[in-house]
Amino acid sequence: MLDWSEKRPVPSHIPASSTETTGLGDIDRAGGRVSVDDKAMINCRADVNQLLPLKYKWAWEKYLAACNNHWMPTEVSMQADIALWKSRDGLTEDERRMIKRNLGFFAASESLVANNIVLAIYRHLTNPECRQYLLRQAFEEAVHTHTFQYIVESLGLDEGELFNMYREVPSITDKAAWALKHTQGIENPSFATGTPEADQAFLRDLVAFYVIFEGMWFYTGFAQILALGRRNKMVGIAEQYQYILRDESIHLNFGIDVINQIKFENPHLWTPSFQEEIRTMLREGAELEAAYGRDTMPRGFLGLNAALCEQYMHFIANRRCGQLGLMAVFPETENPFPWMSEAMDLKKEKNFFETRVIDYQSGGALAWD
Ligand SMILES: [Fe+2]
Ligand SMILES: [Fe+2]
Repeated sequence: MLDWSEKRPVPSHIPASSTETTGLGDIDRAGGRVSVDDKAMINCRADVNQLLPLKYKWAWEKYLAACNNHWMPTEVSMQADIALWKSRDGLTEDERRMIKRNLGFFAASESLVANNIVLAIYRHLTNPECRQYLLRQAFEEAVHTHTFQYIVESLGLDEGELFNMYREVPSITDKAAWALKHTQGIENPSFATGTPEADQAFLRDLVAFYVIFEGMWFYTGFAQILALGRRNKMVGIAEQYQYILRDESIHLNFGIDVINQIKFENPHLWTPSFQEEIRTMLREGAELEAAYGRDTMPRGFLGLNAALCEQYMHFIANRRCGQLGLMAVFPETENPFPWMSEAMDLKKEKNFFETRVIDYQSGGALAWD
């Protein structure tokens, strides 16, 4: 039987009174230096203002990889997209509907993700190298939001319509509301980790945002736009989505590593019933995405339709289960969009959309995981 009341032992050189974890409490003048063994993902009492010595090299490496992937949306030409969007017969009504809903979903989602990491996750992740990555991720989410501002401005879209879709289009609202319910408890200033219930609530928020929001929902969004890009339509947006996808794949992998490290350090949290709960979340996330797919593509076009997107979500959900060490939630299924993995490999497919090529790396290869 697990002893839920058990307290994490306080490292000997750290006074028991030093329980604040924000890094903004009174300075402990008599405190010793931090050693690697004092560091922990959550509920850590070691000074969070001391980046070194590093404990989690994977977090630092992701920070470096993210910095090497710097890009800005305004450096991607929108000329071809503007011409196509303004032409009378370049895009079908179905394509326009999908593009607008896709942009509308992402436009507010980037802010929801940013607010969640800054206002909810950052405070409770008590490790400086992970916080270093979160600061970089927060900037990238700002760059992504900037992308949608730039697209709206370039194409002359109705900004109110786009940025309100998460409130006004039910299939988008349902996704945002589902994720937000997991953030609301832990964003509350009175919330603190340190009990199994609270620590599990924190894990639920990490799963909701990193694994489902960024790691599942964003992927159908990428597939929709990259499917157009493959057919030489909206190539500027498609190129920007490739850069966003490269960023998001590191966000996802960081989130998976954080969750797995917390599991490793706190095995009492990862109970069979909690694992079942997480699997249910992934299943719900896939169902919400399937509903969104039916809403954005009621008829289907260009080899893309709601059924294929649902199949893709099942494939992705099963992969995410595997990454978290969970049993798959759907019967084994083929990836209906194998070209997505090519689109993700910017090194191999630098001229994928034959727009202007920008190599932001300062001398290294465009390698990313
Ligand atoms: Fe993003
Ligand atoms: Fe992200």
